[in-house]
Amino acid sequence: MAVKLNGNYQNLEESYLFAEIARRIRKWQADHPDKAEQLIRMGIGDVTRPLPEAVVNAMVSASQELGRAESFRGYGPEQGYDFLKEAIQRYYARYAVELDLHEIFISDGAKSDLGNILDLFDKDNVVMVTDPVYPVYVDTNQMDGRKIVFKTASEENGFLPMPAKEDHADLIYLCSPNNPTGAVYDREMLKQWVAFARENHAVILFDAAYECFVTGDLPHSIYEIPGAKEVAIEFCSFSKKAGFTGTRCGYTIVPKELVIDGIPVNPMWLRRQTTKFNGVSYVTQRGAEAVFTAEGEKQIQENIDYYRENAAIITDTLDELGIYYTGGKNSPYIWLKCPGNLDSWSFFDKLLNEACVVGTPGAGFGKAGESFFRLTAFSTHENTREAMRRFKELCK
Ligand code: MLT
Repeated sequence: MAVKLNGNYQNLEESYLFAEIARRIRKWQADHPDKAEQLIRMGIGDVTRPLPEAVVNAMVSASQELGRAESFRGYGPEQGYDFLKEAIQRYYARYAVELDLHEIFISDGAKSDLGNILDLFDKDNVVMVTDPVYPVYVDTNQMDGRKIVFKTASEENGFLPMPAKEDHADLIYLCSPNNPTGAVYDREMLKQWVAFARENHAVILFDAAYECFVTGDLPHSIYEIPGAKEVAIEFCSFSKKAGFTGTRCGYTIVPKELVIDGIPVNPMWLRRQTTKFNGVSYVTQRGAEAVFTAEGEKQIQENIDYYRENAAIITDTLDELGIYYTGGKNSPYIWLKCPGNLDSWSFFDKLLNEACVVGTPGAGFGKAGESFFRLTAFSTHENTREAMRRFKELCK
């Protein structure tokens, strides 16, 4: 007998999309040392605004607490401290969503839990994702060898595909505001997805990582839809909301009402987390708690507005050039049709070589993204303006 590897890894793309883009940029920088300084990054959705002062102050004082014998803390609860869960509970109450503290699990970010949650589900489940799709949903299921079906998002459906009667799926990933397209499901559309999940005894894995960009009456949480608690798990993150991409903190909601074949899912997730996870650091959780204070909220809103202005700079340019796009209004992502009928990797190369601007090729998010391209609003004002000036030069 010899050890056997998980053969499903052989079916994956050679590298994770953003790792591949980082590799190509490093190569380009090595080949063009003279141009390296001009590079503007609008590829991976990484933030540029620093952590808000309220967050920094909370983290400093939490560190000082840990440095004194009388207030030192060791292991915390794996599922997170109550002070942060209570702050999240109050946040959801604003949208008339009532959560029990036991339904909230603090994590090190949405991406990890979106993958980890699959521990609870059999490998025979059929998974439905939209195409284009955040690659984590596909890659993590391929690692387990699950069957994946794709719902095509396109110009025709406004990049918001809806379930059809003949569809079948057990696990359904929805991301709204969407990564990569920036499109947002309204209440009526989410109602249809919830109804579909209920009829099919399916579970929706709802990625709300970009909910802070939502405006007007658009839903922030799937639980704003009646009946969703029985069929949905929600994932959220402080990464884009409060600049935690490097700091790492998020949360997952597993409602008590979610019961499959008579088995409640919430205690299974608790069992999984207490066994495989030791929780997020106390300092980070105190920082995340400060996001919900009056001061923290004000500072965070300033950062979100800053990124919204960048999004407007990008969409104004695309309007001027007459290029089709979605997103940018309720989302930090702008999803545009590649100019000049180029395929997305060719446009990636052209934009990098001729304008020294990095974006993300739509093909990296799936077949339906082939002739599209994603730009992010997370850069600085200066770089966004300069990138759009070069973009205009390139496309005129
Ligand atoms: C993206 O660029 O799609 C995101 O930054 C990825 C992530 O949040 O993991």
